[in-house]
Amino acid sequence: MKVLAVICQKGGVGKTTLATALAVAAQEDGKTAAVFDLDAQGSAAFWKDMRSAEGPAVVSVQPVRLPHMLKAAREAGTDLVVLDTPPIAKDVAFLAAEHADFILIPTRPAVLDVMAATETLKLVKRASEPPRPAAVVVNFATAQGREVADTEETIRQLGANLAPVRLHLRVAYSRAQQTGSAAMEIERSGKAADELKRLYDYVCMNLYSHTRSEKK
Ligand SMILES: Nc1ncnc2c1ncn2[C@@H]1O[C@H](COP(=O)(O)OP(=O)(O)OP(=O)(O)O)[C@@H](O)[C@H]1O
Ligand SMILES: [Mg+2]
Repeated sequence: MKVLAVICQKGGVGKTTLATALAVAAQEDGKTAAVFDLDAQGSAAFWKDMRSAEGPAVVSVQPVRLPHMLKAAREAGTDLVVLDTPPIAKDVAFLAAEHADFILIPTRPAVLDVMAATETLKLVKRASEPPRPAAVVVNFATAQGREVADTEETIRQLGANLAPVRLHLRVAYSRAQQTGSAAMEIERSGKAADELKRLYDYVCMNLYSHTRSEKK
């Protein structure tokens, strides 16, 4: 079983959107996936309440019970657990980073968000020795302006990994959530679907050292 954590101290950067969509992508890839909702806001759990399709399982997990719940998921034969985490709560982000095989840090292309992502990168470094592999992914990217390029340059200068796919500001992401879906489920060949597919492949490369298409 692999554990993917989606962490960022800043609110509203797309943690829940990515956590749920990547769990759907894993399920479509034939894996048994679950989302552990570590956020008391319960956004991923609400998403599941609105969802009519079966799976992925979404479990509200009290942070203190995370090790036990991961053990139970492993014993139940779960292939991938995605940890959706709250903003601000450093202790919960720390715990998630400690237990993750790979960490995604979404950020908006804006200076205050990049500062929050920088703090999250420091937290990841402290959480385990050696630090768990992590990458920053730019979400809410826009085609115009210098903001995305500037954000990516700042992340590179920090020596952090940058996911090789930008997620653009697209209505499909938010519209899908209204029905407990992921963007690729409402627009199979849409641009958001393509971005999520490429992000999922990148996550697989980091978790399993092969992409979905290279899988035997
Ligand atoms: N690329 C995108 N384009 C358009 N809307 C997006 C995109 N990514 C996320 N959203 C929307 O932005 C809002 C915030 O996203 P989300 O809830 O995933 O952020 P979060 O980081 O989990 O927030 P919180 O810190 O409060 O848990 C949601 O309404 C979501 O649908
Ligand atoms: Mg959230």
